[in-house]
Amino acid sequence: MGLNTSFFFRILAKCDVIRTFAVEIDCFKDMKKQKITDRVYYVGVNDRTTTRFEGLWPLPKGVSYNSYVVKGSRHIAIVEGVEASFVSRQIESIKAVCDGKSPDFLIVNHMEPDHSGAIRMLMLEFPQMVIVGNAKTLEMLEGYYGINDHVLSVADGDTLSLGDCTLKFSLTPMVHWPETMMTHLIEDAVLFSGDAFGCFGALNGGIIDSEMLTDGFFPEMTRYYSNIVGKYGKPVQKALEKYADTKIDFICSTHGPVWHDRVADVVEAYDRMSRYEAKEGVTIVYGSMYGHTEVLAEKMARALTLKGVKDIRMHNFSYSDISDVLRDVFDVKGLVIATPTYNGALFPKVEAFLQAVASRGLEKRVVARLGESTWAGVGTRKIDEYLAKMKLTVVSDAIEVKQNRMADIDETLDAIAADLVAAM
Ligand code: FEO
Repeated sequence: MGLNTSFFFRILAKCDVIRTFAVEIDCFKDMKKQKITDRVYYVGVNDRTTTRFEGLWPLPKGVSYNSYVVKGSRHIAIVEGVEASFVSRQIESIKAVCDGKSPDFLIVNHMEPDHSGAIRMLMLEFPQMVIVGNAKTLEMLEGYYGINDHVLSVADGDTLSLGDCTLKFSLTPMVHWPETMMTHLIEDAVLFSGDAFGCFGALNGGIIDSEMLTDGFFPEMTRYYSNIVGKYGKPVQKALEKYADTKIDFICSTHGPVWHDRVADVVEAYDRMSRYEAKEGVTIVYGSMYGHTEVLAEKMARALTLKGVKDIRMHNFSYSDISDVLRDVFDVKGLVIATPTYNGALFPKVEAFLQAVASRGLEKRVVARLGESTWAGVGTRKIDEYLAKMKLTVVSDAIEVKQNRMADIDETLDAIAADLVAAM
């Protein structure tokens, strides 16, 4: 009996279809795996339900808790956990990437619970996994979660081989907590940077900056930096110096996009912000009970416009969130603070603002002060008590308007605007 060749070829053709289909499924699985390099995968999560980060900072566009898997030829490492309530999603992604193997290491660059909250659950899921951190990390690990075994303590400059690739650890204290460190995957020029270079805003499909429109993330990076890391300019500078001569193709932060195309831009932004350098422009902040201080602030804005200032950002403290105000104060160089006198002191939200600025050690801003009152007129004196303790340049005498007596004020505001612009 001869071979039925047409049947044979039909079977072969079917095999081809099956193979093609299988390849397509694999491609789909690969797409879902969210590769960054041949051995680095994204296994982070998005949070669009938490309304305030750290209980303080609004999240109108959500936030991502980024985590990564590095697959070496001998060992697999997870870099960072996620916030506790999202750990099941992280575990699902880790399993999809690891193809049945168990991760050997969990690298903990930062212990703040938006990342470390997952650790207990990760240890239950992958009980043989060793947690890697520095001495301060491990002290916090025990304090927060009672974990003190299956740990590996690393020091500045230590390396960990995963077989065909190596992780190198650098301690970068106070970017953002004392235990913070960064991890460099040497062979792929990938820097796992912890909070540094992070931003608010969930990831809407794209993971790497080349997959998305990134301009909207930059104001959110400034907001993140000013709100969360702003106090630690000098430690950020030290961290930047540590990596000044290191080749970096990918910055894998704990929040926001993976930076690849725009590595130079985000490094420049961090360098500028951590030196407290700012762009041309003025933030005008004011509190106002019945609108008189607001009119004063509006007049000041017009005076600045007539002096050529185009970037003016106004914040009424009764409505603006301090988070957005800090973003703008970190972003532009000029600052006008206007307050009514309230209970023989400052308008409360103006006082809270001054405390927030002082606690971040803000420098290199030029500041003008405006006050309004019905009888006491001490607001600007109280502002000056705060400013005296800061490294800011104060211009012109403060003005105190009584009641609504602003008929002859334009000339004075014009002179203050001129001083402010000259000092910027
Ligand atoms: Fe994203 Fe300092 O934690």
